Amino acid sequence: MKEYVLGAAFAVLSTSATAQTIGFSQIGSESGWRAAETTVTQQEAEKRGIDLRFSDAQQRQENQIAAIRSYVAQGVDAILLAPVVATGWDSVLEEAKEAEIPVVLLDRRVDSSEDLYLTAVGSDLVHEGEVAGQWLVDNKPEGECRVVELQGTTGSSPAIDRATGFRTGIEGSDDIEIVRSQTGDFTRSGGKEVMESFLQAEGGGDNICALYAHNDDMALGAIQAIKEAGIDPGDDILIVSIDAVPDIFLAIAEGDANATVELTPNMAGPAFDALDAYLTDGVAPTKFIQTESALYTQGDDPMAEYEARKDLGY
Ligand code: AHR
Repeated sequence: MKEYVLGAAFAVLSTSATAQTIGFSQIGSESGWRAAETTVTQQEAEKRGIDLRFSDAQQRQENQIAAIRSYVAQGVDAILLAPVVATGWDSVLEEAKEAEIPVVLLDRRVDSSEDLYLTAVGSDLVHEGEVAGQWLVDNKPEGECRVVELQGTTGSSPAIDRATGFRTGIEGSDDIEIVRSQTGDFTRSGGKEVMESFLQAEGGGDNICALYAHNDDMALGAIQAIKEAGIDPGDDILIVSIDAVPDIFLAIAEGDANATVELTPNMAGPAFDALDAYLTDGVAPTKFIQTESALYTQGDDPMAEYEARKDLGY
């Protein structure tokens, strides 16, 4: 029987049982990165003998809320939540807390009180944007540089934070200007479609110096649009994005993309470790478990990076 021994939310549990049944409310399968996160989470659960109950929300917050309620009703030991957007989670997180079921956030953040979840595993999303912005500052051609931005899902924490970080990264470089910014919803098709409209609005692409995409899938869709417009991606238009999925390394190797900032799909490993320590020994984790954000460019042997990732479920 679980019992909270401190008044604070998710403070310490007096139980010796490790988590056996965990519900995972996943956002969907909008990107290669998301598919890899799902695969890695399932593999990690299997390795540890965890009964993982998986739910694909197909990008809809209401589906995620329903899944969490169902996990609470099933009496799972813990819940993993990759929240599609940042707002609107208070009530359902309170319900999980009432039921004494710890919730761990994966890769995206919520704007709810920290008392309502055990910990969040993810990267510093603002920093990722800053790294991308700094790369552009260091690599742009001489003179004015007009940038177009493909944003992630509106209202999601990576879309908000990667936009903020990029602006910080280019701060002080007065010759860099973000001239267009629109969501491509983190999908390849969205990236292609929006890039087509950017190209049309910007002299067929002649007025664009660089593309910043909040994920690689949108960059890959945009690369296709740029090629179809008869322009050379990676050269005429510099491309910097985030995730480090295998396909972006192929594009980098071919000279069609320039740089990517890695987001590891293995959020579940640290999440299961934290849950194990918490449920077994009552060790409360820090509120944020940060993963690395490394920059990869054309100088980093992109084919080797592709080979290293190609079988990881992307
Ligand atoms: O939340 C992480 C983001 O979600 C990834 O960068 C993107 O590819 C995914 O859809």
